[in-house]
Amino acid sequence: MKGFVTLIGAGPGDPGLLTVAGAAAIQKATAVVHDALVSEAILAQACPNAERYDVGKRAGQHNTSQDEINDLLIALARADQVVARLKGGDPFVFGRGGEEAEALKRAGIPFRIIPGVTSVVAVPAAAGIPITHRGLAASVGIVTAHRLDGADAPDWDALARLDTVVVLMGAERLSSIAQRLIEAGRSPQTPVACIQSGTLPQQREVIGTLADIAERTHAAELGSPLIIIVGNVVRVRELIGYG
Ligand SMILES: C[S@@+](CC[C@H](N)C(=O)[O-])C[C@H]1O[C@@H](n2cnc3c(N)ncnc32)[C@H](O)[C@@H]1O
Repeated sequence: MKGFVTLIGAGPGDPGLLTVAGAAAIQKATAVVHDALVSEAILAQACPNAERYDVGKRAGQHNTSQDEINDLLIALARADQVVARLKGGDPFVFGRGGEEAEALKRAGIPFRIIPGVTSVVAVPAAAGIPITHRGLAASVGIVTAHRLDGADAPDWDALARLDTVVVLMGAERLSSIAQRLIEAGRSPQTPVACIQSGTLPQQREVIGTLADIAERTHAAELGSPLIIIVGNVVRVRELIGYG
């Protein structure tokens, strides 16, 4: 069997942040299966004859389920395709890459993982915000705003005790996230940065505090993809001349 799958982290958006190993694997692929956040400039590196499958999840359109994606990867590999499975950021950071690797392993399909530059670190960095900084932040929590309450909800009390909190997929729930962190003990004056489309030419930022970030972000009409950074590290942006 010639079929093979490479799970590739495509980075946060800027094609320059795709790894050399990732680019080489894309060029060798006969089939490319990609998420919505993978840019055209990266997809264009594939051979023109490579089949393309867009399995990205977008509001208002048919969502390809995780099971359907797993089945597609297995079927392509069984048809002797060399598959580049491209995911935004790093495949194992809120990317469901682990589930795909498990499915491939169960099906007996050979695969390899190429890590990517995760938006969790790169998007703040591109806006002048280090997620740790000597004297300001020595601990970081990373969460998605997928579920704010209930059994699967983040432990807000534990998060509030960390120096920096990075929230993914939180564009529509900013006010609730800020409220949860204030209720868990963070000062309403804690600095917050919201960065949309980080590392891309259309990158936009809104800076505020837990008390006013939702209003400011709404007024600026920021939307997805959005990263929220909570903590004193946001102040570094101005210190280094990015503010
Ligand atoms: C499903 S998660 C995937 C994360 C990805 N695996 C990673 O390591 O970056 C998608 C979320 O990542 C964040 N994100 C990814 N790329 C981004 C970018 N260029 N700018 C801002 N946020 C981004 C947003 O919160 C978005 O909703």
